[in-house]
Amino acid sequence: MRIGILTSGGDAPGMNATIRAVVRAGLASKDQVFGIYDGYRGLVEGKIQEFNRQGVSEMLNKGGTILGTARLPEFEYESVRRLAIKQLQKHDIDALICLGGDGTYTGALRLHEMGIKTIGVPCTIDNDIASSDFTIGFSTALNTACDAIDRLRDTSSSHQRCSIIEVMGRHCGDLALYSGICCGAEYIITNESGLDKEKLLADLKQNRLAGRKHAIVVISEHITDVYQLAKEVEEYSGYECRATILGYVQRGGAPTPEDRLLAARLGKYAVDLLHEGITGVAVGVRNNKLHNTPIEEALAMKNESNKELSKLVQKIS
Ligand code: F6P
Repeated sequence: MRIGILTSGGDAPGMNATIRAVVRAGLASKDQVFGIYDGYRGLVEGKIQEFNRQGVSEMLNKGGTILGTARLPEFEYESVRRLAIKQLQKHDIDALICLGGDGTYTGALRLHEMGIKTIGVPCTIDNDIASSDFTIGFSTALNTACDAIDRLRDTSSSHQRCSIIEVMGRHCGDLALYSGICCGAEYIITNESGLDKEKLLADLKQNRLAGRKHAIVVISEHITDVYQLAKEVEEYSGYECRATILGYVQRGGAPTPEDRLLAARLGKYAVDLLHEGITGVAVGVRNNKLHNTPIEEALAMKNESNKELSKLVQKIS
């Protein structure tokens, strides 16, 4: 087979490890693998180059994506997708493996509907692809967030402050939930839990009065202006308060062993599925077993923070 591979949307640690797994698994099965640079934009523009074995050396442990990535809203237009298909035909590419999150999956689904064989691989720090228990990149971002929160705890406890830390995740609370639990945050606020500002302020005030010296609040992005919230906490609770937005630092860095392993498993699995003639699906793990879901279903699945962990938070924070 002649297999194309692209990375699209926000980059995620472990994308390179996935590219490597696809290339090595493809070559082992006598396939040819073509890297498509800069996501769907590069596909439309014909930025396509064949990989050899050495082309994916020394990159297993590198963050980012050697293929580059982009967001291409225009891909929603059929006319733009036709240009992409022309490029695939020009290079005789039989199938496309698309690494990314739900925007990437939507592109892969639209191409599939137009007769192109596609497979989606979940690569995003947000862990917001519900058809897989974990996405490639989440473990690394979680590690980075935990490291940062531990550091912020040091300074916040030295100064007896409240520290509000905003983590990424788009609309999914997993990064906040998991990092909050791992770092013993007093409060974890996600889209799913919602922000009850009055209760938060009242609780913090009570904690302060009870002699608790500092507090950590981990909050998902897109919920509120955390700098403004810090001001309100200072005014109301008696704690000095500082807000920190972790931002893009969460997207970089060497992938953790968990992400490398997931990348190896899902990359190889995607190639195996193409050989079995199964396409139009998203690969993933469920209960630590490889499985695939039609992309359309994967996109429709409700993506919520882990309910068991949310309950745990209520008991131990
Ligand atoms: O999807 C990954 C992610 O980092 C989200 O957590 C964040 O909301 C978004 O991408 C930021 O996107 P951009 O790189 O376009 O600013």
